[in-house]
Order: sequence, then C-alpha cells, then structure tokens
Amino acid sequence: MKVNVKNHTMMYPAPAVVASAYDEDGNADACTLAFATMCSHHPPAVMIAINSTLKRKTLKSILQREEFCLAFPSAEQVAEVDYLGIETGYRQDKISKINYTPIKAQKVNAPIIDEFKLSVECKVMHIAEVGSHTQITGEIVNVQADESIVDDKGKIIFEKLNPLAYDDITHSYFEMGDKIADAFKEGLKFRK
Ligand SMILES: Cc1cc2nc3c(=O)[nH]c(=O)nc-3n(C[C@H](O)[C@H](O)[C@H](O)COP(=O)(O)O)c2cc1C
Repeated sequence: MKVNVKNHTMMYPAPAVVASAYDEDGNADACTLAFATMCSHHPPAVMIAINSTLKRKTLKSILQREEFCLAFPSAEQVAEVDYLGIETGYRQDKISKINYTPIKAQKVNAPIIDEFKLSVECKVMHIAEVGSHTQITGEIVNVQADESIVDDKGKIIFEKLNPLAYDDITHSYFEMGDKIADAFKEGLKFRK
C-alpha cells in the first residue's frame, strides 16, 4: 500500500558539491550545493541552483563573473563541506577558515579549491529563475583531477574520490556504496 507524503523537493542520491567564484574584489567565495546535476553531453554542461531570495554571496559572484568552478568533495571532507554550507562569505573568509587554498583555475577566471580532488571549470551559458532558485547552466571548459583518482586511460574513478551524497529530507550526509552492475548491460537480459 502507498501513502501520500508531503510534497518536498527530492532527488537521491543528491551530491554535496562546492561552487566557487571570485567576488568583485577578487576574493574567493565558495558555498556547498546539493542542487547540482549534469545536463548536457555536447557541450559538456552542469546545472546548479542557488537560492536567489536569501542573497547568497557565491550566487552574486557567479552572476557578476559569469564563470565558476564546481568541486566534488570526498567523504572525509564532510566537516569542511558542511561549514561552507552554513556560513556566509559576507561574514567570513570561509576558505581560509578551513585552511583550504583557492588557486586560479586554468581556463576560467574563478578559484579552484586545491584540497578538493576533482573540479570542473565552467562558463555560464544559461540562467533561469525557477521559483525560489536561480538555475545556472555552466559549460564545462576544463576538468582538473588529482592523479590519485584517475586511471591509466585518463578516466576518473569516482570510487577513489569517495564522493559525498546528501539527503535533503533528513539533512544527512552519506557515503556511496559499492558498484553493483554495469549500466547499459544489466538490463539486456530482458531484451532476449
Ligand atoms: C548540504 C548543503 C547543501 C546545500 N545546498 C544548497 C543549494 O543547492 N542551493 C543553495 O542555494 N544553498 C544550498 N545550501 C546553503 C548554502 O551553501 C549556504 O546558504 C551558504 O552559507 C551560502 O554561502 P555564501 O553566502 O558564502 O554564498 C546548502 C547547504 C548545505 C549544508
């Protein structure tokens, strides 16, 4: 039997990623986002959504600069990631506070946070207002990965990154489980 539950924004697993951009004075801003997903293969693009009513500093910087980076943290970085999501850059230099290092990205004028093992560099290609959030599509123009998470063919091994997952209903972080099957193959048995 099914029951009706409260209408709530949901997607699971949702990532916990960190968006970063330079503010108008050239200082690095960063904030944690769960509203983030891939949205185009050609060109490669990601979509993020940031609450436009609550005046996030990182949103202001991304809209001003039209360039940003998105980092994929590891589960061991959960406290730093959480802090970037509960403090605002209007009050505190958050990246220094967690002893992390912003460095200029290679292909965009935005900061990469060195301690995160995987970051994509994005140019804003589309902006839409969706309810409470500003939805920003960024074309990925460069990817920087720590060599420890890249195999000998140049592919990113997400298990080695040990990414963080987030549940917006219970406000909880999770680690991902083990691989269980190959996509585009596991369902083939039903084609026979
Ligand atoms: C796990 C987690 C996920 C979050 N996801 C989002 C999100 O997707 N969009 C958003 O606008 N804020 C999100 N936040 C809140 C912002 O990260 C938070 O308001 C932050 O303080 C903004 O910082 P800023 O003012 O320096 O940009 C999230 C916070 C946490 C802890």
